[in-house]
Amino acid sequence: MAKTIKTIGVLTSGGDAPGMNAAIRAVVRTGIARGLKVKGILQGYNGLINDEIRDMERSDVSDIIQRGGTILYTARSMEFMTEEGQKKAADVCHKEGIDGMIVIGGDGSFRGAQKLSHYGINTIGLPGTIDLDIACTDYTIGFDTAVNTALQAVDKIRDTSTSHERCSIIEVMGRNAGYIALWCGLASGAEDILLPEKYDNNEQELIDHIIEGRKRGKKHHLIINAEGIGHSSGMARRIEAATGIETRATILGYMQRGGSPTCLDRVRASMMGAFAVDRLLQGVTDRVVGFKEGKIVDYDIDEALAMTKTIDEYMFEISKVLSQ
Ligand code: ADP
Ligand code: F6P
Repeated sequence: MAKTIKTIGVLTSGGDAPGMNAAIRAVVRTGIARGLKVKGILQGYNGLINDEIRDMERSDVSDIIQRGGTILYTARSMEFMTEEGQKKAADVCHKEGIDGMIVIGGDGSFRGAQKLSHYGINTIGLPGTIDLDIACTDYTIGFDTAVNTALQAVDKIRDTSTSHERCSIIEVMGRNAGYIALWCGLASGAEDILLPEKYDNNEQELIDHIIEGRKRGKKHHLIINAEGIGHSSGMARRIEAATGIETRATILGYMQRGGSPTCLDRVRASMMGAFAVDRLLQGVTDRVVGFKEGKIVDYDIDEALAMTKTIDEYMFEISKVLSQ
């Protein structure tokens, strides 16, 4: 039976994502409402190692639900990858009396939480990443905002692309995962979507597709290229040379990680944050929160990290059918 939780900590780790603030707010206010002490750890696992920790009151999370980024700051901590760093972090948790830790981040951050749990810290992970690449969940905090930010940009580029009858390559975020590219591509009617999980570097096929489209009267050709494939500028030069069609590349970059979270991200992040606190209070630990079949659920952290996620083949196929 887990010991009674009195003090919980919350940190954000890895790439920031819109909605992380809503999750922090929910953890702090649910924790306080349930009679707990809540501590905010600054700069992810680095802040835990260096004891950069603040007591959080209700007012510390005022005016943040609508803001992108994370008020706790975030980091990719190399020191926490080492056993020494993990031990230091666990010692700080014990010293600060933190008996439950809520980690908001992606898969990497959950691996960190898994390590902390080996030192007896009760941990719960909340899926926070714009990439949607966490296997145990159909939703991650920040994806909805990021994909809509990217989509708005693509719609704008489409206007000018059509006016000039150009081909446009738009590079969206996703180093290892193509979900932003796939959703954004389907929603914008892009003629080609290049996913790190699927692209076979067959540029000739891409070129033939552009030429065929032009012959059929297409006024533009949009290619959504995921960051993991990259090289958009070089690709644009080669396509222009091979097709004779003016081709431009736009790399959307970090704008996709910022901005005010959508209603969906605020609501889901709030509910997941509250859920994590309540699960800790029920004595449930070493879990990862997810969203499956319309419900907030949680999984054992080891099982969650062992799951794999693949691109939805039907969605990918239909994206091609619809953009013909
Ligand atoms: P994300 O959480 O978005 O996947 P990262 O993969 O960069 O982002 O992970 C965030 C941080 O989590 C890393 O900088 C590191 O401090 C910690 N982390 C990642 N993998 C591990 C691991 N295997 N063991 C311990 N800590 C890890
Ligand atoms: O948070 C996810 C993500 O934005 C990926 O899509 C991207 O590849 C990566 O983070 C970039 O990370 P960094 O902030 O370290 O450049």
